[in-house]
Amino acid sequence: MSKLPPTPASRQLFIFFVFLFTGDFLRPTFGSSPNVEVQALLNFKNHLEDPLNYLDSWRISSESPCQFHGVVCDNVTGRVVEISLNYKSLIGKISPAISALQSLKSLIIPSNYISGELPAEIVKCSDLRVLNVSANNLTGSLPDLSKLIKLEILDVTDNYFTGDIPEWIGNLTGLSALGVGDNNFNEGGIPESFGNLKNLNWLYMRGCQLTGEIPNSLFDLQQLGTLDLASNKISGEFPVGITKMRSLWKIELFGNQLTGVIPPEISDLNLLQEIDISMNQMHGELPIEIGNMKNLTVFECNTNRFSGELPPGLGGLRHLKGFSIYRNNFSGNFPENFAMFAPLVEIDISENKFSGGFPKFLCASGKLQKLLALENSFSGELPENYAKCKSLLRFRVNQNQLSGNIPDGLWALPFLELIDLSDNSFTGEISPAIGVSTSLTQLLLFDNEFSGEIPPEIGELTHLEKLDLSNNKFSGKIPSQIQNIRQLSYLHLENNLFSGSIPDEIGECE
Ligand SMILES: *[C@@H]1O[C@H](CO)[C@@H](O)[C@H](O)[C@H]1NC(C)=O
Ligand SMILES: *[C@@H]1O[C@H](CO)[C@@H](O)[C@H](O)[C@H]1NC(C)=O
Ligand SMILES: *[C@@H]1O[C@H](CO)[C@@H](O)[C@H](O)[C@H]1NC(C)=O
Ligand SMILES: *[C@@H]1O[C@H](CO)[C@@H](O)[C@H](O)[C@H]1NC(C)=O
Ligand SMILES: *[C@@H]1O[C@H](CO)[C@@H](O)[C@H](O)[C@H]1NC(C)=O
Ligand SMILES: *[C@@H]1O[C@H](CO)[C@@H](O)[C@H](O)[C@H]1NC(C)=O
Repeated sequence: MSKLPPTPASRQLFIFFVFLFTGDFLRPTFGSSPNVEVQALLNFKNHLEDPLNYLDSWRISSESPCQFHGVVCDNVTGRVVEISLNYKSLIGKISPAISALQSLKSLIIPSNYISGELPAEIVKCSDLRVLNVSANNLTGSLPDLSKLIKLEILDVTDNYFTGDIPEWIGNLTGLSALGVGDNNFNEGGIPESFGNLKNLNWLYMRGCQLTGEIPNSLFDLQQLGTLDLASNKISGEFPVGITKMRSLWKIELFGNQLTGVIPPEISDLNLLQEIDISMNQMHGELPIEIGNMKNLTVFECNTNRFSGELPPGLGGLRHLKGFSIYRNNFSGNFPENFAMFAPLVEIDISENKFSGGFPKFLCASGKLQKLLALENSFSGELPENYAKCKSLLRFRVNQNQLSGNIPDGLWALPFLELIDLSDNSFTGEISPAIGVSTSLTQLLLFDNEFSGEIPPEIGELTHLEKLDLSNNKFSGKIPSQIQNIRQLSYLHLENNLFSGSIPDEIGECE
């Protein structure tokens, strides 16, 4: 306390002592313990800056702390059992005085700007079940909390903690949720002892410098629903042991150094909804069994070395919302009925070697927002049904071998922001209906065989920033309406068959 600078906080402290000595404060309400608790809470408050005055109700004059904003008392004993101050812009430190709250069960203070260390004295709150200090500015190493044997939730995610990720966490066998991710811990392996946390349902260790292989002990966590080890340096082959964790519904392993293949046993995880193993060094074909994983909603394996054809069964998944497999070496035809029955929102199959006809049913549900299929070898025409895909925001099929005319309605999608058809063999004209597509910021048609005149309606695309029609067979006059597009900063019209002069003001664009 003596270290506190002379801020309004210490003035409050002074007032506090005045009350204390005049005896006013000692008036018994629930016996003496609530006063001790008021004192502890005011000390806690005095170590914090509270720019939005959430702690205004925390006053010395209060007879009990139970009316303090964010404080919950046991309704029988009157003891403080919970402090809950989520997202209150609090700055400052956690006062060790909090250890006087002997009945505290929950300390929930995430999403503030609290800095300094987590005080070791907190182990004196031996009834603590929930400790959530995630998304703050805490530093130093974690104090030994192994005596808090009643802890069920320990979340220190997203701070600046350093030191090793402690082994003793494995002694807290009552934990159902453990978050240590997004901190500055030393490089090191996942502690073996975490395999003792048999009640664990949620394990978040993203971005905390993990190295080495996943210890086998971890695969004993039969209750685990979410396993998030993303953005680390975990190495070794994708462990088949993961498929023993039958409660898993979410696996996040992206951004590691995993090798090997996806084992066919993956389909034993019949509750699995989301899996992201992007940005590793895995290879091989996707096992055919993935087609049996009917609960899958998100499948992501982009930026690996996967190859071969996709299992046809993927077409039967009825809950798939996200599918991201770009930057691999997949080849062959795309499963014909893919997403025919699925509420697909985003798909990115770019930078592979898919060939044959373009998939027809990606927007069958009318929910598709992002369709990215650039840099493949798809051929033939774009299926007519994309013309009805009003939900589309981004449509990129550049660098394929597509041909034929663009379905008329595709020019007139009201929310479409980006359309990239470049580097194909498309023919036909830009429909005047393009005037409806007023959300467009990029219209990229270069390196095709488009022809006809540019419709004057293009002038209605007032958000357009990039327009590239170069290397086509457009003819006629360049419509003067183009100069209405104030945002336009990138315009390429070269290598076409235009006649007449370029409208004056276009010259000012670039
Ligand atoms: C005290 O709270 C518990 C739940 O926490 C509730 O079941 C009980 O009815 C409450 N008792 C009184 C007297 O309000
Ligand atoms: C918290 O950390 C962030 C990021 O380092 C920094 O910008 C901010 O100033 C810190 N705030 C406080 C109150 O320490
Ligand atoms: C954790 O538990 C192990 C085995 O029960 C024990 O040997 C060890 O001392 C405990 N560690 C702490 C820090 O309590
Ligand atoms: C901790 O609090 C944050 C913010 O409210 C919340 O998102 C997170 O789920 C909590 N952690 C646990 C493990 O419940
Ligand atoms: C999908 O999950 C449900 C529980 O949410 C489960 O009962 C069902 O067996 C799973 N379906 C398949 C095909 O595995
Ligand atoms: C990609 O697959 C082709 C066969 O389809 C193979 O020849 C080539 O080596 C693979 N490339 C990489 C980078 O794996």
